Amino acid sequence: MVKICCIGAGYVGGPTMAVIALKCPSIEVAVVDISNPRITAWNSDQLPIYEPGLDDVVKQCRGKNLFFSTDVEKHVAEADIVFVSVNTPTKSQGLGAGKAADLTYWESAARMIADVSKSAKIVVEKSTVPVKTAEAIEKILTHNSKGIEFQILSNPEFLAEGTAIPDLFNPDRVLIGGRETPEGLKAVQALKEVYAHWVPEEQIICTNLWSAELSKLAANAFLAQRISSVNAMSALCEATGADVSHVSHAVGKDTRIGPKFLNASVGFGGSCFQKDILNLVYICECNGLPEVANYWKQVIKINDYQKSRFVNRVVSSMFNTVSGKKIGILGFAFKKDTGDTRETPAIDVCRGLLVDRAQLSIYDPQVSQDQIQKDLTMVKFDWEHPVILKPVSPTALKQVTFVWDAYEASKDAHGICILTEWDEFKTLDFQRIYDNMQKPAFVFDGRNVVDPKKLQQIGFIVYSIGKPL
Ligand code: NAD
Ligand code: UGA
Repeated sequence: MVKICCIGAGYVGGPTMAVIALKCPSIEVAVVDISNPRITAWNSDQLPIYEPGLDDVVKQCRGKNLFFSTDVEKHVAEADIVFVSVNTPTKSQGLGAGKAADLTYWESAARMIADVSKSAKIVVEKSTVPVKTAEAIEKILTHNSKGIEFQILSNPEFLAEGTAIPDLFNPDRVLIGGRETPEGLKAVQALKEVYAHWVPEEQIICTNLWSAELSKLAANAFLAQRISSVNAMSALCEATGADVSHVSHAVGKDTRIGPKFLNASVGFGGSCFQKDILNLVYICECNGLPEVANYWKQVIKINDYQKSRFVNRVVSSMFNTVSGKKIGILGFAFKKDTGDTRETPAIDVCRGLLVDRAQLSIYDPQVSQDQIQKDLTMVKFDWEHPVILKPVSPTALKQVTFVWDAYEASKDAHGICILTEWDEFKTLDFQRIYDNMQKPAFVFDGRNVVDPKKLQQIGFIVYSIGKPL
């Protein structure tokens, strides 16, 4: 029986390995992590991440050929294939701070693999890493090994949160990069055979290591660039009376452009787009390509602009002050169908409103009060400078309440901000909401989930991204 071990039981490691276990009953999969609470949760009925369809997959194979454990060394030592799916955040200090990827977790995983291995292994980069990382990993592994053969592969993950299970069941492609040596090609083939259990062969792309590593950064940069492009257009729409949803529909009808990923929003969030673009920018700068670096930087600058433009719109519409006014915040997660709040635009919007002394009442169906408090008070870096941005103080945090209902969040509020596109927000009883709000009642729709005309008929003053005011 082939044995797989995945280091890192997070948003990628957990779902990816669960699907491999489900689709490959002949393979034993162990997912290991240094975090005790995470592993305990993976072994319980309350999984550590919310992902539609995940519970079902885990239930079908946990205890059969899928195991979650903190015994990292044992499972790594026993495995034939070791996936490394640890976090690779942006460096917060030292050389490259604010842009470069922090590979501390990766490096420590690689050193541990080298230490505990007693047999040949394929080591797979699942985390998103800078191009050329495999070279560094190879050095760590081979300089420590006792004649053990390691083959490094790059197999970046393209799943999106909220749709991880369908994405893994039906990936647009699986990408595997390896050394172009006989041993390298053999390792690529071995990993290909794992995916071939359910992914059609023509969708498994094999390249060299550097193309695979760079393709992941490129894919995220292209996706984020589309959002910043449509968000830039949304500002122009508001200035001219055009409607951004008409514009993106018309533009997306061109088959060369396509209709997906053209929804204007308060800004993109999530743990990866900003981090991966900054990483790309840093690599370009290190390779003496400032023009290319500046091109990609602009994608993040527009995203920052979109978030601050939204805050400014709220404050300026409400007679230039929100001081002491209650504002209902509907949605805090970075997108619907996840409880993940990493880099959610809601953090920046809430911080912006708190600076203007608003009273916030926050509701999200999947995010806990604890998490929101942590997010608002955590230290954040200004990527461009990098300096620490002032977190929300404990006194300012008193301006925030947390509720478990959209109606409660909007009760007696002067305005509401929709910051996540949860389906339930589309079917709210807005007449009821209007009746219970202060007048004039404002709606600021950062996700274009409501019909502005219907809400205007009720009596709301509505601001939707990129729509005529
Ligand atoms: P995560 O923070 O949810 O999970 C990482 C896990 O690794 C954590 O549980 C942490 O405790 C564990 N870990 C760190 N060092 C370890 C070590 N030495 N030994 C054992 N466990 C260790 O991160 P994630 O969202 O799953 O992302 C992982 C990687 O995948 C990142 O590089 C990310 O860019 C990439 N990625 C993420 C997504 C996504 O949707 N979140 C999608 C594609 C790619
Ligand atoms: C993204 C990519 O879509 C995945 O392919 C990739 O694997 C992953 O990053 C990663 O590397 O981590 P994810 O961040 O989970 O996935 O979610 P997306 O659906 O891409 O959404 C990202 C952000 O963009 C969200 O805040 C979303 O609301 C926003 N968005 C998305 C828009 O504002 N408009 C759109 O049209 C699409």
